Amino acid sequence: MGALSQTRVPVIAIDGPSASGKGTVAARVAQALGFHYLDSGALYRLTTLAAIAAAIALEDEPGLAEVARTMQIRFGADGVRLAGRDVTEALRTEEVSAATSRVAAWPAVCAALLERQRGFRQLPGLVADGRDMGSIVFPDADVKVFLSASLETRAERRYKQLMEKGMYAKMADVVEELRRRDARDASRPVAPLKHYPDAFFLDTSGLSVEQAVAQVLDWWRERASRRGRETDRGGKSP
Ligand code: DC
Repeated sequence: MGALSQTRVPVIAIDGPSASGKGTVAARVAQALGFHYLDSGALYRLTTLAAIAAAIALEDEPGLAEVARTMQIRFGADGVRLAGRDVTEALRTEEVSAATSRVAAWPAVCAALLERQRGFRQLPGLVADGRDMGSIVFPDADVKVFLSASLETRAERRYKQLMEKGMYAKMADVVEELRRRDARDASRPVAPLKHYPDAFFLDTSGLSVEQAVAQVLDWWRERASRRGRETDRGGKSP
């Protein structure tokens, strides 16, 4: 970490299952605070796309890990690029989503992405969303949130997203696919998706995006002011 370790960079970790709204909430929290934003799921999705482009099988764990380590990616205001190609839309297809939950189950892929994810931790701060942000990638995060919603609410949100994109799907299939993905994400051998004890739990089923964002910002402010008080006390009585 070198110079970074001298100035601690704050992190807000937001974990949760597919279609829980964590990406939207995390991006808005980052915007409100002027922090960087890491969509860690995008890194896993990029690994899948890069592997497909290089004809690497989804069962080839070392091959996938090598792709995860070496792929050329760029997140910009104009979208996400893989080896210079705009893949913003391609990342989000149902096909890539399904393949990615298999790719993400390989321990060597998670290990290969670990340092890349930590590289996003830069001043003035980072909001990171994923499955294991608070447990594995940033265990010292200042605020950890486990954000979820009922399966029905998540399925409705995903269904609406698909319709808006003109991608027609049956509600029953959307529910079934989410259920399958939840089961895979929760049972993977490394960093399975789970609510860990030091995270705040936020059920967004009955909440608007604004309410969820406001709650995370409240937790952040509480933490920041407590840290400020501790620093003051430390200064007066070392
Ligand atoms: O959040 P998402 O739907 O974009 O994630 C895509 C896949 O990547 C999903 O199957 C879970 C996996 N993933 C993971 O295993 N760990 C993360 N930190 C983020 C995503």
